[in-house]
Amino acid sequence: MSYGYFDDDAREYVITTPHTPYPWINYLGTEEFFGLISHTGGGYTFCRDALMRRLTRWRYNNVPTDAGGRCYYINDGGDIWSPTWSPVGADLDHFEARHGMSYSSITGERNGIRCEVTFVVPLGATAEIHRVRLTNTTDSARSLQLFSLAEFCLWNAADDSTNYQRNLSLGEVEVEGSAIYHKTEYRERRNHYAVYGVNVPIQGYDTDRESFFGLRSNWAAPDAVVEGKSRDSIASGWAPVGSHQLDIDLAPGEQRDLVFVLGYVENAEDDKWEAPGVINKRKAEALLSRFSTSASVDAALSELKEYWSGLLEATAVSSGDPRLDRMINIWNPYQCMVTFNMSRSASYFESGLGRGMGFRDSAQDLLGFVHLIPERARERILDVAATQLPDGSAYHQYQPLTKRGNESVGGGFNDDPLWLIEGTAAYVRETGDLTILEEIVPFDNDPENAAPLLEHLARSFQHVLANLGPHGLPLIGRADWNDCLNLNAFSTEPGESFQTMETQDGRTAESIFIAGLFVHAGEQYADILEALGMSHGATTARERIVEMTHAVLEHGWDGSWFLRAYDHFGDKVGSAQNDEGQIFIEPQGMCVMAGIGAETSHANQALDSVNARLNSDHGILLLQPAFTRFRVELGEITTYPPGYKENGSVFCHTNPWVMIAATRQGRAEEAYEYWKKIAPAFREEIADRHRTEPYVYAQMIAGRDAPSYGEAKNSWLTGTAAWNWVAITQYIIGVRPELDGLRVEPCLAAEIADLSYVRHCRGAEYRVNIANGPGDGSPKLTVDGLAHEGTLVAYAEPGAVVVVDVVV
Ligand code: GLC
Ligand code: GLC
Repeated sequence: MSYGYFDDDAREYVITTPHTPYPWINYLGTEEFFGLISHTGGGYTFCRDALMRRLTRWRYNNVPTDAGGRCYYINDGGDIWSPTWSPVGADLDHFEARHGMSYSSITGERNGIRCEVTFVVPLGATAEIHRVRLTNTTDSARSLQLFSLAEFCLWNAADDSTNYQRNLSLGEVEVEGSAIYHKTEYRERRNHYAVYGVNVPIQGYDTDRESFFGLRSNWAAPDAVVEGKSRDSIASGWAPVGSHQLDIDLAPGEQRDLVFVLGYVENAEDDKWEAPGVINKRKAEALLSRFSTSASVDAALSELKEYWSGLLEATAVSSGDPRLDRMINIWNPYQCMVTFNMSRSASYFESGLGRGMGFRDSAQDLLGFVHLIPERARERILDVAATQLPDGSAYHQYQPLTKRGNESVGGGFNDDPLWLIEGTAAYVRETGDLTILEEIVPFDNDPENAAPLLEHLARSFQHVLANLGPHGLPLIGRADWNDCLNLNAFSTEPGESFQTMETQDGRTAESIFIAGLFVHAGEQYADILEALGMSHGATTARERIVEMTHAVLEHGWDGSWFLRAYDHFGDKVGSAQNDEGQIFIEPQGMCVMAGIGAETSHANQALDSVNARLNSDHGILLLQPAFTRFRVELGEITTYPPGYKENGSVFCHTNPWVMIAATRQGRAEEAYEYWKKIAPAFREEIADRHRTEPYVYAQMIAGRDAPSYGEAKNSWLTGTAAWNWVAITQYIIGVRPELDGLRVEPCLAAEIADLSYVRHCRGAEYRVNIANGPGDGSPKLTVDGLAHEGTLVAYAEPGAVVVVDVVV
């Protein structure tokens, strides 16, 4: 069943029916003002922080799903419908939703009235613009009414959905002309308000939800819309909303554009009021006048498109397979930008209430983002590093508004510090900017205790060495990458958080995954030291890496694959000796990626075992056999029914590690096969089964053990985006920045005969043409027409164009 198609020229996914298997969403905004928008207009809007500055309300886990959001109602002589299909749900003669790069447009047509609504957050604006374009496609004159509706959230989204004894007495608004102002709590400590306006005179308005809907009506049939008459209500307490009434006459063939602006304004403390009790509206009025014409919306859209063209042109592939091309040229980098902005905070699966910016998540998101806007990646690295603690450990999360470590979650995830090395190293390779290592960064946001970034990396590295267990392998702490493998939290109370509790002393349970990561990140740390001329430090670091490698091969090898861990009792986890959970993906991917066992047969054996035991039709499973009962000594991983999440789903984030590992071992067919199984554009043809958006990766796809095998969940905000970007562009296509040159080392499956790839790096452009023939697999390079020794191409001057021809 098809629900739409890719329009690659427009960089859009086009959805042709409201009845997709799940709401298919997009993100508006690129800087600090964001909206989540589904293909039927659902979702919500916030400024900077989805928890603390939410402008509009939307209900998670609601029935029907995706109710509310950006609502437009048309009352055409008693016939009521919505151009975005929702919330009315009336059948449309034509429906089309286009999700583009940071904008969406949704068109509905009924009885000869066509209505296209374009949603965009312009660059440099803290506002969402909704342009409503009405067209009378018939040859008779028509009169109709348009009603808008935005339901305001009282800023703190958690409080908004829990603290009713206070909130229902709080709401305040003002109305002036066609603009509705939401000013709850502005009278006290807030210095911000929301405005919802339209660029033409209105015939009525509502700001009180109950007046607009009626107490017992529903989203599909608000009283004011059904009766065709706004109440001109002024909210006082209860639930403030913004709704405009517009009576519209359309001549035959006439088209009319209306521009709605939903914006956010902050005023200085001493400039909050225009008169006692009357908010200062100057900035809001400037915002409304900036977007008061349809032409201004067109200009904002084309500016945004140019912005995205500029970003996306950094890389471009042409392979003969449009599915591969569109992932690399459009959707994967787009998703990387979104994950970079959102971390794991706000999606249709992440409520925006709980999780701030993850330390490990943010550091990994960088890997897919750093080539797009390196300066923002730089800033992020410094923010993340500032939440590291003096002993090298790290807060697991920090809040985006305050940039401070989150006390309630705390730290103790012993992989976290190493990701700072990974993110920083990726930035340095991409940009060549070693000065970042000299930046003075506080520990735990304490300016009194600050040190150069390089010292932070050193402490990350040392933290692992200072916390080794009985086998000389890293202690796991509360968890490593796998948040749910909790070997020190023997939790027996329902509802306890496995991540924040610890019942054991933590001095026994060890992680082979962290050992692999230590080697992988450690090599990059040593390379950086080398580049800084600190060769003694580099040598010492490499000695520690060799020791760790030995420890892994001696105590972390199970016979045919890498063990996952030792638990609190010193028993093996992820071993053939176990009855369940015999093999885990993480150490296979990470250890082989790190080069452990490459010189012996271990690496290939581990990959063989992955293929034999974990490979499935829908990607590589996290573990097998899945756990069928709760095990107190393993923690949250065993709380999930078999086949879900960390208990044996295809946890997509881990798959690219295996792809990269496979390319390291020259296993090109395998690497590409694994990628195609989870790449959304390849799964479009099984959209019914996959269910979430066919243009972005999901965190997990239900595994073989689950009844819904193949069904994806938790789309958008996942490290899968960044790591697949790395796997496919840097290891499969094989073009990756290193410290002293661009490595060109393709490892392409035979089905790709010719591939050309443009890569901008450090100001120069590299045009790589790959002829992928049968042979011994070692690539032969020609650079600007001259035969070239090896696969490392020296960086060219900014502005230069370098042509690299590769025969494999
Ligand atoms: C989620 C978390 C990530 C973690 C993964 C595995 O994706 O955001 O930090 O590594 O789950 O537990
Ligand atoms: C990770 C895991 C999820 C777990 C959460 C707890 O995101 O994927 O399953 O519940 O961590 O913080």
